[in-house]
Amino acid sequence: MTKRILILLGHPDPRPDRFGAALAAAYGDAAESVGHDVRRIHLADIDIPFLTSQAEFDSPPAAPFVAIQQDILWAEHFVLVFPLWMGATPAKLKALLEQVFRGSFALAQSPKGPTPQLKGRSARLIVTMGMPALIFRVIFGAHGLLALDKGALRLAGLAPIRKSIVGSVEAIGPSGRRRWLVRIRRLGTLGI
Ligand SMILES: Cc1cc2nc3c(=O)[nH]c(=O)nc-3n(C[C@H](O)[C@H](O)[C@H](O)COP(=O)(O)O)c2cc1C
Repeated sequence: MTKRILILLGHPDPRPDRFGAALAAAYGDAAESVGHDVRRIHLADIDIPFLTSQAEFDSPPAAPFVAIQQDILWAEHFVLVFPLWMGATPAKLKALLEQVFRGSFALAQSPKGPTPQLKGRSARLIVTMGMPALIFRVIFGAHGLLALDKGALRLAGLAPIRKSIVGSVEAIGPSGRRRWLVRIRRLGTLGI
């Protein structure tokens, strides 16, 4: 069964030689090759103001972010590729999510309490990092992923949220990178 897949390359660096760019392309190209419908967004292409108040968060965002909201609503599966920067998502990616989640887009308040708005969609988080994946998981408790996973996406209703932790990116060399690209291509064909 084919899916509608939205891929957000959440790397602030526009240069195509970033490994995250290769992973996002591998996922998207493999998905398209088997008939999935793919839309792609690159964080580096977007100008993003910082959100500064609750009042702003409660109101709808500007047009470029409304367009991204529409892409998310269109998608059945959301793929987010980003580098770990200072233990978390790069600030520009966080700024984008804050803009896109404005105006009760992800979580609406009702008399029954907060209501997730994005149910029925799955996600895959692909995070690259300098440290070994095992250290990130065991010593750091994968905290940089948890904030995004539990604190934003799960709260909005996305499930399941699967993760690919690409550790030691600078140390694994071309063969290690090739192995990751093969794995990510396979996930792309499966649309998971
Ligand atoms: C500003 C900055 C902060 C970083 N912080 C971390 C970090 O906290 N932990 C870590 O393991 N790697 C860290 N790194 C390394 C990046 O995660 C790594 O270079 C990146 O994931 C490689 O993927 P890319 O080729 O797509 O940029 C940092 C890199 C930069 C530029």
